[in-house]
Amino acid sequence: MEHLIIEGGNKLKGTLKIKGAKNSVLPIMAASLLNGSGKDVILENIPDLIDMHVMRKILQSLGITVHYVNGNLRIAPGNIRNYAVPDQLMREMRSSIFLMGPLLAKLGKVKISYPGGCSIGHRPIDLHLKGLESMGAKFWEEKGFIFASATQLTGAEIHLDYPSVGATENLMMAAALANGKTTINNVAKEPEIVDLQNFLNAMGAEVRGAGTETLKIEGVERLEDCTYRVIPDRIVAGTYMIAAAITGGEVILTEVIPAHLEGIIAKLREAGIFVESTEDTVKIACGNLKAVKTLRTSPYPGFPTDLQSQMMVLLSLARGESMIEESVFEARFKHVVELKKMNASIMVEGCRAHIKGIEKLRGAEVEITDLRAGAALVLAGLAAEGTTIVAGVKHIDRGYEKIEKELQLLGANIIRGPRENLLYFC
Ligand code: UD1
Repeated sequence: MEHLIIEGGNKLKGTLKIKGAKNSVLPIMAASLLNGSGKDVILENIPDLIDMHVMRKILQSLGITVHYVNGNLRIAPGNIRNYAVPDQLMREMRSSIFLMGPLLAKLGKVKISYPGGCSIGHRPIDLHLKGLESMGAKFWEEKGFIFASATQLTGAEIHLDYPSVGATENLMMAAALANGKTTINNVAKEPEIVDLQNFLNAMGAEVRGAGTETLKIEGVERLEDCTYRVIPDRIVAGTYMIAAAITGGEVILTEVIPAHLEGIIAKLREAGIFVESTEDTVKIACGNLKAVKTLRTSPYPGFPTDLQSQMMVLLSLARGESMIEESVFEARFKHVVELKKMNASIMVEGCRAHIKGIEKLRGAEVEITDLRAGAALVLAGLAAEGTTIVAGVKHIDRGYEKIEKELQLLGANIIRGPRENLLYFC
């Protein structure tokens, strides 16, 4: 089993290019199934991530040829031979749920099991199912599998009780080929929703309204192939911004969209960090870290839940007392136990964490339980005094391409390998 070993204390310095967003790539790969032309879809700027490869294997299991070369994906036209998503792949990644909308739209039937992924609380799929039901799909369960069928999906008026990112995306994909017009209210406004809309429209769909509360989708008969470049990963960018801030370094991130980073930029400035942006770069330089009275995660454009654990590490080292309220997922404080091993002073009360800033974190052996918590523990290791040994690295590889190599480029002292070998060299 691989570990990361980090010798803390180095200030990160340099320039880093940010690649495509995992949370755009996955639904867009699923949407590629809708291609009805005889030619391939090409997706550019694709990071080499475990989750991307799981989605690639799922598409292959359905009968679609997918090649990943030089950071680009080539996805063959939708000659789908299978309507069942393999149980094991389904359990590896929650985003496998994205196959439901496209498969129903394309084949009129689908068989899946309950999706897996990060263990960050109860993650139901009721909004996905309710929305698809409104469009005429029928669902039933048999021996632990979910089956769905629809002779022809039809446009509908849908209201989401919560602006779920995944449900919005699933319904957009299904509606793109449905018969007639679909209106979806209270949708998620994340940049990845806009990216999916742009991709679907590049294939010939008629989707309007992404980035606002209402989506209007006019179903079309057929979608075509296209070449599409996905947006940069705002969560990876935010993670490296916090890494620079927490080590007192100075880092420039390139190929980013600063408008997507407004929530994190505002909180970093509040915490005393210098942030400057141009059209497609952000520069982060250290300041005196100070507490942030309240940081509440919420759907976009609010502060992203996917950067909550990383920000908690920063606030652990900020002068004064901060409070984080997690409003999106109910069990997203699993990193707190591990941060406490590193001397952090954090008290959790329900969905709130009270953080008392301390002078220094201390290196320790810690274990990752989910993707973003993993990134947070790596950041803690970079800022800590002494050696930090991080287990469970595969969680990080789901969403960060070669994190240790990127951090080494910025001057961090971090290596990866089996624990015994690494300790020998330390
Ligand atoms: C997506 C992101 C994930 C991010 C999350 C919130 C991808 C691949 N993943 O996940 O990184 O943390 O958005 O920004 O894009 N909910 C329901 N019923 C449903 C669906 C969701 O109650 O049918 C609830 C969830 O339990 C959760 C909240 O809605 O409390 C947000 O979930 P959602 O926006 O759906 O997140 P994901 O799409 O799973």
